Amino acid sequence: MNLKIALLPGDGIGPEVLRQAVKCLQAVEETFDHSFVYTEAPVGAIAIDKNGVPLPEDTLKLCKHSDAVLFGAIGAPKYDNDPNAKVRPEQGLLQLRSELGLFSNIRPVKVFPTLIAKSPLKKEIISGTDFVIYRELTGGIYFGEKKLSEDGTVASDLCEYSEKEISRIAHLAFKAAKARRKKLTLVDKANVLESSRLWRKVVTKIGESYPEVNLDYLFVDNAAMQIILNPSQFDVILTENMFGDIISDEGSVIGGSIGLLPSASIGNDHAMFEPIHGSYPQAKGKDIANPIASILSAAMLLDHFGLNEEAMAVVSAVNKSLKKNIVTPDLNAESKYGTDHVGDFIANNIVDSDDNLNINDENIGLGKSTII
Ligand code: IPM
Ligand code: MN
Repeated sequence: MNLKIALLPGDGIGPEVLRQAVKCLQAVEETFDHSFVYTEAPVGAIAIDKNGVPLPEDTLKLCKHSDAVLFGAIGAPKYDNDPNAKVRPEQGLLQLRSELGLFSNIRPVKVFPTLIAKSPLKKEIISGTDFVIYRELTGGIYFGEKKLSEDGTVASDLCEYSEKEISRIAHLAFKAAKARRKKLTLVDKANVLESSRLWRKVVTKIGESYPEVNLDYLFVDNAAMQIILNPSQFDVILTENMFGDIISDEGSVIGGSIGLLPSASIGNDHAMFEPIHGSYPQAKGKDIANPIASILSAAMLLDHFGLNEEAMAVVSAVNKSLKKNIVTPDLNAESKYGTDHVGDFIANNIVDSDDNLNINDENIGLGKSTII
């Protein structure tokens, strides 16, 4: 297969983790005889420094003309600590999501058996955790009208949703649930918010055309508690933009490190793949950042194009690194391995793997049947 892939390394640890994902994609090209063309472009704080805007015109154009976008990370402390900044790196990512129409953000949360002891939660609570969050990505409070009074003392952000915005992601989530364990949980705040009541109405109605899927509802405050108390009860979680942002960080704790979780952002015409973690500026250039979330995001990219066997080869190489403890210090404080070494190990194991086709218990499947 030929694919044009736009690489947007972004800020902080973005470039160094993305480099490892590209190594793995190159290993896939070599092993499975594909041809991927990579083109890099600036986004985020680095683009503000270079071009004055967080999403330069050329970067957007490149993404629109690529088959997929692989994204690193975004954000820098000088903006985080300056509420008056007029231009912010994150605007680049939000604009990209919106311009590419990436309305569905898919975030699988699965416990790696080899890491079960690393979780801050008890083994008996987290074992068997395997759910996927469908987070609406181009609507709600993130994109609603923002106001600040002239004297700067009153501010508001509008949370608005249309039936159309709700139903297009709801259908994807129902389809995913149908292919998985047939349970869908809508997370909202329908006891307080009008927009959440619309979500309930629309999702309930759509549920009628998926009779095999068991639909239930949780208020987001309760959901936040249930994810920690009993994560294995969830199969597919469907939720709006901001609730999805918050509970997916919470979900990442279950597996022991936020450095493990990948995500896919899908629209009708475009797709982007990125770790759920941030730019972790304190670690930039230190060769300590965990590249696994970025590498697994590349696996989701492969999966998206139907390259399931290739995605599986990446996932089993990741599993091998975990099993052999070739991991970054977030997973093992004594580890002497850095980002680059872990990336090399995983990429080499894609090339050398003699068991690419051998899907065993240790392989955490990212194949369509298992993630979505
Ligand atoms: C995420 C991030 C982004 C978000 C930020 C960087 C704008 O936290 O992808 O979860 O809030 O969506
Ligand atoms: Mn987030």
